[in-house]
Amino acid sequence: MTAPRRFRMAALALLSFVAAGSAYGDDLHKLWDQRCGGCHGHAGTFSRNTLLLVDGHLGDRKGRDVEAFLKSHNGGYSPEVVAGIASMLRAQVETPDLFRRLCAQCHETAAVVARTLLSVEDGVLVGRQSHRPLAEVLRRHGDVEEDQQGPLLETLTRVEREVHHR
Ligand code: HEC
Ligand code: HEC
Repeated sequence: MTAPRRFRMAALALLSFVAAGSAYGDDLHKLWDQRCGGCHGHAGTFSRNTLLLVDGHLGDRKGRDVEAFLKSHNGGYSPEVVAGIASMLRAQVETPDLFRRLCAQCHETAAVVARTLLSVEDGVLVGRQSHRPLAEVLRRHGDVEEDQQGPLLETLTRVEREVHHR
């Protein structure tokens, strides 16, 4: 093999490595759908039914630490995948499933809303079509009680970050 060809192959290998890394890092919800959801279903339902916090650690009902478990589950996931997925599952365990109760009958999942109906304009989360702040949208849309508006806004703000890996 000639030197330039070896160089090109090495460059290609590096490129595909970088692409694979960002494919996992880009959208935590897509990562879940591709790598976990086939066996475990919807992430929010799985985490809220199966996991719990014990002394601040995310564990399952058999007392296993989730991050430690994932390091060997199905042959073991990379530290990046384990950290990203564990933080998403943890946030779900810590918050009520308002989206599923109030919005899912029309919008499927919060990740889909974040990808298709929300954007950030001047640092504010807004509806992509109306350009109105989401806080305002939620006051008139989806039968959201006043005390549910804050938690729902927080959830969608988090999910919007998770689908863009921010
Ligand atoms: C091929 C199917 C399959 C895939 C893919 C899969 N799992 Fe699992 N997972 C299982 C099975 C089966 C169990 C129960 C095994 C056990 O309890 O030891 C399990 C258990 C778990 C548990 C412990 C929860 C419990 O029931 O006590 C967690 C957490 C978990 N999986 C997370 C994940 C995550 C995160 C991914 C993706 C990165 C993933 N799994 C991918 C099949 C799968
Ligand atoms: C009865 C059906 C229904 C329910 C329930 C519902 N929506 Fe919608 N929502 C829609 C429709 C239809 C649109 C118009 C956009 C589209 O075609 O998807 C929309 C638009 C939106 C938009 C874009 C608004 C804009 O100003 O650009 C957001 C954000 C949104 N919904 C979030 C939610 C959230 C969060 C909930 C739960 C509290 C919810 N929706 C409940 C049907 C619904």
